[in-house]
Amino acid sequence: MQAEPLIPPPSRRDLLLTGLAASMPTALWPRTAAAQPALSTRPIPSTGERLPLVGLGSWITFNVGNDRVARENCAQVMRAFLDAGGRLIDSSPMYGSSQSVVGEGLARIGRSAGVFAADKVWIAPGSRGPAQIEESQRLWRVQRFDLLQVHNLLAWEAHLPALFEMKAAGRLRYVGITTSEGRRHREIESIMRSQPIDFVQVSYNLLGREVEQRILPLARERGIAVLANRPFREGALLRGLQSWPLPAWAAEIGCDGWAQFALKFIVSHPAVTCAIPATSQVAHVRQNMGAALDPLPDEAMRQRMAAHVAAL
Ligand SMILES: NC(=O)c1ccc[n+]([C@@H]2O[C@H](COP(=O)([O-])OP(=O)(O)OC[C@H]3O[C@@H](n4cnc5c(N)ncnc54)[C@H](OP(=O)(O)O)[C@@H]3O)[C@@H](O)[C@H]2O)c1
Repeated sequence: MQAEPLIPPPSRRDLLLTGLAASMPTALWPRTAAAQPALSTRPIPSTGERLPLVGLGSWITFNVGNDRVARENCAQVMRAFLDAGGRLIDSSPMYGSSQSVVGEGLARIGRSAGVFAADKVWIAPGSRGPAQIEESQRLWRVQRFDLLQVHNLLAWEAHLPALFEMKAAGRLRYVGITTSEGRRHREIESIMRSQPIDFVQVSYNLLGREVEQRILPLARERGIAVLANRPFREGALLRGLQSWPLPAWAAEIGCDGWAQFALKFIVSHPAVTCAIPATSQVAHVRQNMGAALDPLPDEAMRQRMAAHVAAL
């Protein structure tokens, strides 16, 4: 699926509904994809298909129930994400109303076509997986997902064979597993070694770097794409950093603030395919997508970034 060349601007009504009209003149909104600088991408090792380095999470931020204004706001966040060149959106049946917010929002803004739809299966026993996936497809309004991941390894022994079968039958493009916060890393490693998965999703950020030791090198060795979740530790990392000035040398890698600093650190690791920050704000998603623009830090700069934050 390719990004659409023409991007419809948000309507005046959209902006009024989301309260963005005052802060964001429509004249400033990008009208064509060509107007946007190209995001850096990295290949999914199993196929070579390239993904932009920054995606979009949906846990908490998109779990807004039936609140019409909040749902509209989420649609505008997705519009800004896609306008900036983003593709991968990550959700899960665990995230309350998020799946339906994604599906309905993309349909409403007419932008489902360019999206790399990443969802999860999260149910036990494993025999209930197919029914859950069917319901997730209905909520997302997709015929098939690009990526399905076994969420937090729940009943993975049953789900993985079913997902591989779906992939073989052309009903799914990629298979993955997820965890977060360092949980069950030994088991993650063992599955990475023994199963033909395309993706692994783990937590990785400036203050949570355990995966650098074993999982990221293993992903490179085994040709497995990596999604980095919780890049801002649910926002706590940025809230802590905001009380400090951004170091002047962050300008060398094109950072306009701590969010880009934090994301550029993650996506410049050569094993990382895509970081998936979540946000409920259009201004934040634009900042976050800016982290996928060159220049990216080299290894020496990455060390400097981590040391600087650790010392604060
Ligand atoms: N086991 C799993 O599979 C698993 C586990 C955890 C997470 N995930 C995935 O990873 C995604 C990201 O993790 P997360 O949701 O824990 O949190 P996160 O992305 O680390 O942080 C999200 C928080 O950061 C804030 N934020 C985002 N951009 C910002 C910016 N530019 N400036 C200031 N604040 C900003 C958001 O607030 P605003 O709304 O105000 O921007 C939000 O509160 C999830 O949504 C989910 O898709 C998967």
